[in-house]
Amino acid sequence: MCGIVGAVAQRNIVPVLIEGLRRLEYRGYDSCGVAVLANGEPRRARSVARVADLDDQVRDTRLAGATGIAHTRWATHGAPVTDNAHPIFSRDTLAIVHNGIIENYETLGEVLRGKGYEFVSQTDTEVIAHLIHSLYRGDLFAAVREAVQQLHGAYAIAVLHKDQPHTVVGARQGSPLVVGLGDGENFLASDALALAGSTDRFIFLEEGDVCELKLDGVRIADRDGQPAQRDVRQVAAYGGAVELGPYRHFMQKEIFEQPRAISDTIPQADGFDPSLFGEAAPKVFGKIDSLLILACGTSYYSGLTAKYWLESIAKIPTQVEIASEYRYRDSVPNPNALVVVISQSGETADTLAALKHAQSLGHQHTLSVCNVGTSAMVRQTEFTFLTHAGREIGVASTKAFTTQLVALFVLALTLAKVRGHLSAAQESNYLKQLRHLPAALNSVLALEPQIIAWSEEFSRKENALFLGRGLHYPIALEGALKLKEISYIHAEAYPAGELKHGPLALVTEAMPVVTVAPNDALLEKLKSNIQEVRARGGQLYVFADSDTRIVNAEGLHVIRMPEHYGLLSPILHVVPLQLLAYHTACARGTDVDKPRNLAKSVTVE
Ligand code: AGP
Repeated sequence: MCGIVGAVAQRNIVPVLIEGLRRLEYRGYDSCGVAVLANGEPRRARSVARVADLDDQVRDTRLAGATGIAHTRWATHGAPVTDNAHPIFSRDTLAIVHNGIIENYETLGEVLRGKGYEFVSQTDTEVIAHLIHSLYRGDLFAAVREAVQQLHGAYAIAVLHKDQPHTVVGARQGSPLVVGLGDGENFLASDALALAGSTDRFIFLEEGDVCELKLDGVRIADRDGQPAQRDVRQVAAYGGAVELGPYRHFMQKEIFEQPRAISDTIPQADGFDPSLFGEAAPKVFGKIDSLLILACGTSYYSGLTAKYWLESIAKIPTQVEIASEYRYRDSVPNPNALVVVISQSGETADTLAALKHAQSLGHQHTLSVCNVGTSAMVRQTEFTFLTHAGREIGVASTKAFTTQLVALFVLALTLAKVRGHLSAAQESNYLKQLRHLPAALNSVLALEPQIIAWSEEFSRKENALFLGRGLHYPIALEGALKLKEISYIHAEAYPAGELKHGPLALVTEAMPVVTVAPNDALLEKLKSNIQEVRARGGQLYVFADSDTRIVNAEGLHVIRMPEHYGLLSPILHVVPLQLLAYHTACARGTDVDKPRNLAKSVTVE
């Protein structure tokens, strides 16, 4: 989604800004731009193509300057056209880049029009540009501080002004912004990753902060306008560009990285101790009486899977909610509940807002399951369990999902132990199963050639149904999401028992029905559901555990899963669904890693 980079230096900063945008590209965007102060005037280049195109423009026009800001835009207000691409100017004196959404832009716009400001874009951002311009009296820092008081919504901004060389002012509320500290130069970005190679010393700005970058230092004011000291953190984890290696797409690479990612996420310890989640967890976990899980998209499906584990192993009541729904409905808070937010990025606006909402309702105990240790979500929760998926580039989440499942399984076992529902023998047995998971996953990945054969047929379909039961219903949901987001085939998932309550009407020869069939307690029920589809001429594609006795027949295509994996089976069964979506998308020729209209990190509501 939208990305910001800014810098003040004593050298031409354009290459640093462009490199920063390149590092943010994987998050998804539809236009990009850069502005610098060149001979005391703001000059910019903007493109509705890729950052590489912007780079060409910059070289062709010899755009150079020592103070600059840059942006990748994911359109919200106004189409992805050049006029709406950032940086946005106000009266050719001030330039701004903005992530987020300003909710009161219409009201502010009317006032500014009354003052003679002319609007040339359809963006909400232009309102901020003119507002700051209207408040500028020779001090950009002061003007930005005054302006943000009038903004409603979520934003991270970076601003420069022609009369203030070597100055970039930033502000954040609801969208992340980080300061990078250099020697005689300083940087600003929406993600520390953008500044890899320029610095490893960062200040993660807090909600309401306004900062001013100069050559020799950075000053920060908090939401009340008071000078604020923020910790400087050394973050060495941001390496160079991630290589594709022998893979065709990052998504494929990430699917095949799952054995390693899972092995890195499984705790080294010989048992499930609450201290895995934070120092104070042993005290708190004993007191909590329920869980409230909040997440979006794929992360929501990992929460749905976890509900089965938490209620059956730890016997703890668990509620799972889509973050964007939870934050806007009246709910009954329970101060003894543990609120668990799940997120790959840790920056998803809806999940962050839901967390804040839960806290405002009086929920005191919060845990994040997250893949980014420096993210806002990790910083805003009491406890954390980090997944070690490594950077996920493909928009379609794969290794982040399976490592979340591992984390949540560990949480279920930990709570089971704390609550007296886990014997020492069970604990060591589960630990063994977890440790064997990477090997089991490798056997599943070896099914790729069989899945490629199916994907050829799938690529000619426009609809698909996914069925699962119990623990595997969320896996069917995840399989359908994967297929629709990257192949653009319409796919829906149902608990198999629901088929006869409606979706069976859709079943014809043209409708592939994908079924996840582990050899669990619900197998016989699932077999009956399979017969319901066959009786109506439907085409079934079943991923069946080897001992299920489901075999190939007319209208029934079966791929055998290597072994039944008990409660951990969802982690294995989702992998062929990822591969099916991936190869179907490849066969349809879509942009697998950057599917249309989607962004990796959804930082707006
Ligand atoms: C997954 O394939 C999706 N691209 C999407 O649903 C994603 O899981 C969702 O936006 C949540 O992101 P998060 O895990 O970073 O919070």
